[in-house]
Amino acid sequence: LVVWAPAKVNLYLELHGKRADGYHELTTLMVAVRLYDTLVMKESDGLRLSCSATELSSGPDNLVLRAARLLQKETGCERGAVIRLIKRIPLAAGLAGGSTDAAATLAGLNCLWRLGLDRSRLADLAAQLGSDVPFFLYGPAAWCTGRGERVEPLTLGGALHFVLVCPRTGLSTAAVYGAVGQDADPAKGPGAAAARQDWNPVPQETAIRAAVAAGRAEEIGRLLHNRLQPAGEKLCSAIARIHARLAELHPAGVLMSGSGSTVFALCRSRDEANSIAHELSHGKIEEDLRVYRVRSCS
Ligand code: C5P
Repeated sequence: LVVWAPAKVNLYLELHGKRADGYHELTTLMVAVRLYDTLVMKESDGLRLSCSATELSSGPDNLVLRAARLLQKETGCERGAVIRLIKRIPLAAGLAGGSTDAAATLAGLNCLWRLGLDRSRLADLAAQLGSDVPFFLYGPAAWCTGRGERVEPLTLGGALHFVLVCPRTGLSTAAVYGAVGQDADPAKGPGAAAARQDWNPVPQETAIRAAVAAGRAEEIGRLLHNRLQPAGEKLCSAIARIHARLAELHPAGVLMSGSGSTVFALCRSRDEANSIAHELSHGKIEEDLRVYRVRSCS
């Protein structure tokens, strides 16, 4: 069985305070994009993982093996699998590479082992593996709340075109959340976050959801927002430089994705994305960067 696991970008991310369990209550709009890891799975005895990226552990701490074990434990299934993970999504880049692999493992093994779990049961397991994992069972666009694990799928009114720019240095999600200043944390302090479902959306949230539903890149570009970006910039100086360089090329909008370190340009068309990617690859920026031109998943 071959499973294609897409990356994501966050078009909007707002924090609503730190919870008693240490996580931040948030609202975020995520879109899956056509940059994929591939998982090749075959039924076998035991569980074995091999990985194309030497810098990534293929041991029991890898999210793919954690997802497979969790599925075995929850269902009592005694089948096994050999899994080959081909990594293309950069690590620690705010693109949820590990989370998408975990979701692909749950969905793939559910099929390979003929477990018959429905999407909501898989989403409960996904939430135990990481805050971003459930999103990938829904996609291609969703409004996520709680610590990110409550997913409301959104319609994407049209394809969105992006240029993703990834510095060589990645960022740890926990470190970025840890560096968020109290000034950037509206509810201030542990345990201050209320249950988000009782809150009304702020006007910018309503506006970006409507713009995504209509597929209007220009409007989405003006509404892009990521509360984690100042913390990301504190920990990785390349982020601010890349942001400034992309802004000079006048796409619809520029933003850091998730907890970084990827910065993306949202473009008005495929042609604009091509020309911005070309400018960056051949232009004056001195960083050691990886540049991807991608569109949203359908
Ligand atoms: O859920 P996940 O394992 O991806 O989270 C990694 C880390 O990011 C957490 O341990 C926490 O420090 C931080 N985090 C957070 N609030 C969230 C999501 C993640 O503080 N909503």
